[in-house]
Amino acid sequence: MKMTSKELRQKWISFYEGKGHVNIGAVSLIGDGSTGVMFNVAGMQPLMPYLLGKKHEKGTRLCNVQGCVRTVDIESVGDASHFTFFEMMGNWSLGDYFKKEKTAWSFEFLTEVLGFDKDKLRVTVFEGNDAAPRDRETAELLTALGIAPEHISYLPKEDNWWELEGTVGTPCGPDNEWFYPLGEDYVEIGNDVYMQYKKTENGYVPLENKNVDTGFGFDRMLLFLNGLSDGYKTDLFLPVIEKLEALSGKSYEDGGEEQRAMRIIADHTRTTVMLIGDEQGILPSNTGAGYILRRIMRRAIRYCKSLGISSDAMLAAAEIFIDRVYDEAYPLLVKKRAYILEEIKKEADRFEATLVQGMKEFEKCVNGLERKNEFMAKSDPSYIKETVIGGKQAFRLYDTYGFPLELTEELAAERGLSVDKTGFDAAFKEHQEKSRVLPTGQFKGGLESHSETATKYHTATHLLNAALKRVLSPDCYQKGSNITDERMRFDFNFPRPMTEEEIKATEALVNEKIKEDLPVVFREMSLEEARKENFTGVFDSKYGDVVKTYAIGDFSKEMCGGPHVERTGTLGTFKIVKEQSCAAGIRRIKAVLQ
Ligand code: ALA
Repeated sequence: MKMTSKELRQKWISFYEGKGHVNIGAVSLIGDGSTGVMFNVAGMQPLMPYLLGKKHEKGTRLCNVQGCVRTVDIESVGDASHFTFFEMMGNWSLGDYFKKEKTAWSFEFLTEVLGFDKDKLRVTVFEGNDAAPRDRETAELLTALGIAPEHISYLPKEDNWWELEGTVGTPCGPDNEWFYPLGEDYVEIGNDVYMQYKKTENGYVPLENKNVDTGFGFDRMLLFLNGLSDGYKTDLFLPVIEKLEALSGKSYEDGGEEQRAMRIIADHTRTTVMLIGDEQGILPSNTGAGYILRRIMRRAIRYCKSLGISSDAMLAAAEIFIDRVYDEAYPLLVKKRAYILEEIKKEADRFEATLVQGMKEFEKCVNGLERKNEFMAKSDPSYIKETVIGGKQAFRLYDTYGFPLELTEELAAERGLSVDKTGFDAAFKEHQEKSRVLPTGQFKGGLESHSETATKYHTATHLLNAALKRVLSPDCYQKGSNITDERMRFDFNFPRPMTEEEIKATEALVNEKIKEDLPVVFREMSLEEARKENFTGVFDSKYGDVVKTYAIGDFSKEMCGGPHVERTGTLGTFKIVKEQSCAAGIRRIKAVLQ
């Protein structure tokens, strides 16, 4: 059945509204830090407290189409099916209906509303383990609906159990997953999770409520409906690809590097638009989520160059996403249109000013390495070629030319080289120390937000975050922050204004920790280790990834990209100058160091 993205959105929502669900709309893409991920990675993420038992004001049956950002696979973007932003069509039962209704509705939606052939559908269910039994019930319900028993398979936890990896205290459970043939392969189109457990340090414990958490991939569903196998040919991307073709005079259909570049520009521009245009919109910066955005934007700009077009192509692509593709579903983008375009332009200008020079510098590094290898190989036949770009050189590219480390790594990989990351970190640190003696604390050139003052505010942010958890509630999480050389801004979830006493107590606690002159200890470790050691956090990482952590005595433990001061004693006096509302349920603190 041919269908536009706008129609599919509408069909999902009206189907579930017809089953008594309330459309709760999409929430911010920026994670609340409570799960240790920087962005919303699943439709259920904002609903976590409700899946754990809290009452939702909109009732027990909810649905929406929720945007998600996942950047762990950013290197794979450029093929036909990897995106850094995608949407998930979701619906939830919060202790309301369970397997019987859910299987029936998923089946009805797929076969009757979308016209999928029931004999081509394949479904997998959970085979059972110590934590939860074999899901015979779901298999029987599916058979009763008309799915042949041989089209239903029982699979182990690796396949049919859904949880947010690397987290504890989060809801989870067995699921059934739906597959449909796309070309030769069966591809997953969505899953129904029977969330009835909570993951704890010591295993899984049953929740009071039996919930359902359903997620169907919106972008992917469009492929099936329109008989496509390339995600960039749906109406979500096609006009942008056509624009890039027109601007570059190159044909998408020719494939190869040019097709890859068009896909990367299109994908990264969409994610950029979504992150800047979000209700808690972020901007490119050198830390946290802002740094990830910067990487995405600079990667897109570089691919504009490789396609032979200017970064204005990003603006043209952004306009299409805002005006034609997401205008109805994300009216906020339309409202923030001028702002989004302006911020893209600013970042592009900042990067372009140094890109050409930076590329030259990069080539120099590579040439230097090659010359040395040649020379050495001549005099010593057993000489093993050096393939690592030095940390100092990578830092220079970062500091002077604004190349995110990952960009240098990617450029290096294209030449069969790698980058000395440890050396990069060391150079970074050394530079930070040297900068203390600069009168204004400003670095020359490059990225502006690493001044000494900003670094202090960054550490103060961690102290404030930890203090709020103690003074107000352990459930307070950072929702955002913004630092300039004059002040810091910190957003966190809390349902009411802080009292005067709470403000004073928070200030006092931060100042106490400054006086104690606690060491700020940086360590890299696996995400698992960080969890075990109770680092909280905000990092866009995959289970198994190495994360950066900062511990301030044992007062604050956060995953964070840094940079930070070495001891809290250098921060001065911390003062909260304003405490105000920022959005529903979110408070904003402005504070200074004096
Ligand atoms: N939470 C499930 C998913 O993200 C539905 O796939």
